[in-house]
Amino acid sequence: MSLQKILVQIEPKPENLLRALKAAQKENKYIGEKECEKIADYFSLPLARIYSFASFFNEIRTKKETKKNIRICSGGPCLSKDSAKVARQIEMLLGLEAGNDAHPKYKLEYISCLGLCDRGPVVEVEGQIFERVKPEMVDDIIQSYL
Ligand code: FES
Repeated sequence: MSLQKILVQIEPKPENLLRALKAAQKENKYIGEKECEKIADYFSLPLARIYSFASFFNEIRTKKETKKNIRICSGGPCLSKDSAKVARQIEMLLGLEAGNDAHPKYKLEYISCLGLCDRGPVVEVEGQIFERVKPEMVDDIIQSYL
């Protein structure tokens, strides 16, 4: 679906901007300069405001991601259910460190909350959500994305 078709379904009010960005990203995996310009026009907002708004949210990508993206929730509820052990298992399996961009194929990052606190620990791999993840489940989850 084209960005224009996505946008016409969303009323161009400032409170709908995040919704528009997420919908645009869902279609393209990231929101590039061209998409930001179209969204700025549609919402009648300065382009700089779209960029600053988009960059505020971890889940919005303004650059094409060439690495497989793994995100693990480090919010309080997920931490209390051992998300740190899950993260360590992922780090050991892939030989990378969260927040370190040096790995050529994968990127692991902590995020503050995915809004699924009662189903934690929550892990997102390439946009797919995994709930109630235990360290012993990591191998199976990651293997399908290798
Ligand atoms: S704290 Fe993990 S989903 Fe909210």
